[in-house]
Amino acid sequence: MPVSVDSAVSADCTVSADDSVCAPLPVLGRDVRVPLVTGGEVDYAALDYAASAPALQRVWDDVAAYAPYYGSVHRGAGYLSQLSTDLFENSRRTIADFLGCRPDGDAGDQVVFTRSTTDSLNLLAAALPQDTEVFVFETEHHASLLPWERRADTVVTYLDAPRTPRQAVDILAAALAGREPAAGTDQGTGRPAGPALVCVTGASNVTGELWPVRELAAVAHAHGARIVLDAAQLAPHHPIDIRDLDVDWVAFSGHKLYAPFGAGVLAGRADWLQGAEPYLAGGGASRTVARRTDGGVDVDWHTTAARHEAGSPNVIGAYSIAAACQALTEAGFDELVAREQRLIARVRAGLATVPEVRVLSLFGDDAPRVGVLSFVVEGWNSSHFAAALSAEYGIGVRDGLFCAHPLVRTLLGSESDEPGECGAPEAVPGEKSLNAIRVSFGAGTPDEHIERFVRAVRELVADGARWNYRTEGGRCVPDPSA
Ligand SMILES: Cc1ncc(COP(=O)(O)O)c(C=O)c1O
Repeated sequence: MPVSVDSAVSADCTVSADDSVCAPLPVLGRDVRVPLVTGGEVDYAALDYAASAPALQRVWDDVAAYAPYYGSVHRGAGYLSQLSTDLFENSRRTIADFLGCRPDGDAGDQVVFTRSTTDSLNLLAAALPQDTEVFVFETEHHASLLPWERRADTVVTYLDAPRTPRQAVDILAAALAGREPAAGTDQGTGRPAGPALVCVTGASNVTGELWPVRELAAVAHAHGARIVLDAAQLAPHHPIDIRDLDVDWVAFSGHKLYAPFGAGVLAGRADWLQGAEPYLAGGGASRTVARRTDGGVDVDWHTTAARHEAGSPNVIGAYSIAAACQALTEAGFDELVAREQRLIARVRAGLATVPEVRVLSLFGDDAPRVGVLSFVVEGWNSSHFAAALSAEYGIGVRDGLFCAHPLVRTLLGSESDEPGECGAPEAVPGEKSLNAIRVSFGAGTPDEHIERFVRAVRELVADGARWNYRTEGGRCVPDPSA
């Protein structure tokens, strides 16, 4: 196997008397310079990891080392096809190990390659047994909120936003306890027999707060339901152990895990996946296809992960995710978590010194969280503020509703501050105060980016923007005529 996987970059830590200080992992784009409207250039500060994280240098190097050996997967007799097939299947195993998957088999786990978290959850939604009841908190990202309604036979219950992790568990328990016993089952047992699924995020893409996944899984299982973990924001920031959490499926995206090559993962229980119609019909998913005497076609579908991977697989995407899993493990994921927690503490301490800033939180200040944090600034339109961070400081954050509209609306509540006009989403009347600014970071973030961000927030609030901005296409942009 000519592809090197030995180029591990470990978290470069020096331990001092009171603390250990680790360097960020090398990522692509760390040297990119961007112009400022006020003159000059700075290193780009990518603080929008929650949308898409930069590629780890290690992932890029591994992909580049493999690229000359690229070949068709599962199809060719040639050497490179065989090598690529091995790489693809080994990637599946690496990811299964990374997630602590249960041994393959009917009661075990499969790792299915998809395009993204959205794709993974839509796949699972399509694979649900007939008449499954789905329970989902209104606080979910749209990718976990919306796929379930698309099946006419699926009944979806949307749960209200909890204000503490304990309340989340209680709300779910009450909802599951209220399930009707399925028709034809023993009403005396009190145990509903129909299939049920709970979908929950591991870490919020708005507040970064961790959800009580293990406790929710216990409640789900106690009521005969299964649970899928939306780990889009958890996987890049925290080790995941599917057995320890006792979740049935995990979904995440490569592009948030430092592997932006168009692949995602759905890992978990094989039985529902094996029992479902293939997600896409086509080559690769079918074992044999034969004409019937009545003129139709008989198809014998695979029961392995290939069942839901019809078409030519994205071997580079799959390999890049495996390379990222390996890189994070070899770097020392716990060290990376500890370093990120220090960055979070710095951001929070910095923002706390600016009374005009309100950090959005569902579970309160003490809730454990990952490096994702949203806030609003009194007197500022969020799009205006984000535009000034970019144009005047070279800092890339995100503003808006972050594909979690019900959650952001709940968190902002009756926001009393009337924001400025610039960047208000014109197309949606009444929404202009309903957007926030999100800063997010991770394993590749240098301390300087965090320090620059905190300084920029302080200066913008104290002194105002140094440039003029105008609304263009619903967004706030620097006004070149200023
Ligand atoms: C919590 C969460 N779930 C799901 C998704 C969807 O991920 P993707 O766009 O990669 O499908 C996101 C993306 O931001 C997310 O933050």
